[in-house]
Amino acid sequence: MSPISTKKHGDVLVVTSNNPPVNALGHAVREGLVAAIEEADGDDEVKAVVIIGEGQTFFAGADITEFGRAMQNPMLPQVVDIIENCTKPVVSAIHGTALGGGLEVALASHYRVAVASAKLGVPEVKLGLLPGAGGTQRLPRVAGVQKALEMAATGNPIGAKEAYEIGLVDRLIEGDLEQHAVAFAEEVREIRPLPKSSERQDKVEPYRTDRSVFTDFRKANERKFRGFEAPYANIQAIEAAVDKPYAEGVLTERQLFLQLMTGTQARAQQYFFFAERRAAKIDGIPEGTQPRMGKRIGVIGAGTMGGGISMNFLSAGIPVTIVEMAQDALDRGTGVMRGNYEASAAKGRISPGQAQAAMGLLTPTLKLDDLADCDLIIEAVFENMDVKKDIFAKLDKIAKPGAILASNTSYLNIDEIAAATSRPEDVVGLHFFSPANVMKLLEIVRGAKTAPDVLVTAMALAKRIRKVAVVAGVCHGFIGNRMLMPRQVEATKLLLEGATPEQIDRVHVGFGMPMGPFQMADLAGVDIGWHRDPSRIENVRDALCAADRWGQKKGAGFYDYDERRNPTPSPVVEKIIEEFRVKEGVEKREIGNDEIVERTLYTMVNEGARILEEGMAQRASDIDVVWVYGYGWPVYRGGPMFWADTEGLDKIVAGLERRGFEVAKLLREKAEAGEKFTR
Ligand code: 3HC
Repeated sequence: MSPISTKKHGDVLVVTSNNPPVNALGHAVREGLVAAIEEADGDDEVKAVVIIGEGQTFFAGADITEFGRAMQNPMLPQVVDIIENCTKPVVSAIHGTALGGGLEVALASHYRVAVASAKLGVPEVKLGLLPGAGGTQRLPRVAGVQKALEMAATGNPIGAKEAYEIGLVDRLIEGDLEQHAVAFAEEVREIRPLPKSSERQDKVEPYRTDRSVFTDFRKANERKFRGFEAPYANIQAIEAAVDKPYAEGVLTERQLFLQLMTGTQARAQQYFFFAERRAAKIDGIPEGTQPRMGKRIGVIGAGTMGGGISMNFLSAGIPVTIVEMAQDALDRGTGVMRGNYEASAAKGRISPGQAQAAMGLLTPTLKLDDLADCDLIIEAVFENMDVKKDIFAKLDKIAKPGAILASNTSYLNIDEIAAATSRPEDVVGLHFFSPANVMKLLEIVRGAKTAPDVLVTAMALAKRIRKVAVVAGVCHGFIGNRMLMPRQVEATKLLLEGATPEQIDRVHVGFGMPMGPFQMADLAGVDIGWHRDPSRIENVRDALCAADRWGQKKGAGFYDYDERRNPTPSPVVEKIIEEFRVKEGVEKREIGNDEIVERTLYTMVNEGARILEEGMAQRASDIDVVWVYGYGWPVYRGGPMFWADTEGLDKIVAGLERRGFEVAKLLREKAEAGEKFTR
């Protein structure tokens, strides 16, 4: 049965799409839409058409699962032209999201009405693409060039109210959407000529002579778009909308679309779209497992981590009880949180009312006993097994039955922590990344005895606080930090052998990482994990710590920093490295960039393979999600495991062997079988 059905309301033909979950514009939908327009054109009784979506949303875009396969006619560019050329006025009635191809359908319609909660956008850039069904040409004509640039090049949607203000939506609907859309269609049924987006010139014309909007936009977003191809193609296509007649502009759009579609970046970004969604699926959970309650959260520790973790829940409207040991630490912690909210309000990211409401949900206390009514308690104290065990033993006595007991440890053994309680099935790791209120990633660490409904609850809560969660097994450093270790070890060895921090960081930044290993160490603190004994100097890091070079916070680390935190290479560090080199008897030599890649990136892939082999990650794509969201791995390279596949696993194996590393069994097997980690 076709997902498109039609029915008449008086002389308005209502075309309804029912293609759950998101009304993607797959082949059957496209075919149905064309048939519906033909029906409207051929029926004298029909005076106007309303296109509407059933379920949670209007069309959320092209069907991404069709990408990379042979597409069947009619293609979306044809469909939208057929809609625009309908001889009766077509009204798109939008609720939920009109995204990508969905917005292109709406733009090809003669009118658009929407409920206030609807969102409209062209997120193709996030899939490494551009709107390929006339969107780059119609959107600037309707929404204006500046707005079209912002929407297309960033992929961020706008709300219906804003869309109404800029003329992208003709009317905001309160109440029943279909009913009001039909009434609107009745109102406009006689208006001729039909308003066609493709024919509009008023909003693009002024830019033919003044190009500053494009140069300014490129410049303002230089950092954000670094390394990506799609944002620039989007800008170029919108420039074509200004420079060329519509019929020629769409040809430029098509050419750019095909160019992107056949490139590696689009493949990586589309892979990642599904990787992110697969990560939410937990293996081995009995069907129908229901989440436990998550109405009140307890957080132990009001330091940077505890405060950041709490803010996630408060912002989502979930009350938090936060515990500290001393009043001054508690005051300091809550003060930082309040300050963060006030700063967000000052920047206009949230309203002062929202900031106040969030803080109003916070209950600070010095008593662990006050956690008795919490459904989930997250311990966020410093990394010490004895301290954590002691806290969990106490929680065991305080927490109500069924409460989930979580540790925010980044390395420690969750099973050992769980064993300090009489209810290990209720214990789970929730590893947030710093700053916890900003970073999207959450590693959910599944202990040997963690109950399925605990995992389901953790995943559901992660979604509520807008985190992307990945399930990891119990091992040192879980997925992310475990893979960071070989990179760190090799990067430090490379220093002794002759590479400089700048050279190594440059290779990583050139690769697309937001920063290199040494920039990251300086930002996080060179002193993390330091034994705190200045007389015990066993490596370069110890020497830096002993010399008070703890990173950015001290104005000196692997780099020197000025008062504005601009880094410069440090002669002191160079001397420290030189001294170590002599002490260790290492000979200085020229290090090539390819060696840096092989020793610091191939080794990560190797560790990723071991993580998979041991079942510490459910799937290779989960590892990629960790690295993109936790460490800023460039999404246009898909993640370390996808990247390894694109490099070729035999090449990775050869590189590792050349540098004397033991190759992980799974990596070797896959390379020999000509297989990939990801599909
Ligand atoms: N095609 C195919 N499947 C899609 C899809 C799409 N465009 N959008 C979402 N889905 C699937 C998801 O994979 C997921 O499947 P699963 O349940 O099997 O994991 C399911 O629909 C639900 O998606 P979410 O979990 O993401 O649901 P949410 O409610 O959180 O979000 C959404 C809904 C905002 C619509 C979000 O899914 C989204 O952003 N989708 C992508 C939108 C998009 O990128 N559109 C542009 C497509 S490209 C295009 O249109 C090209 C054109 O210009 C030619």
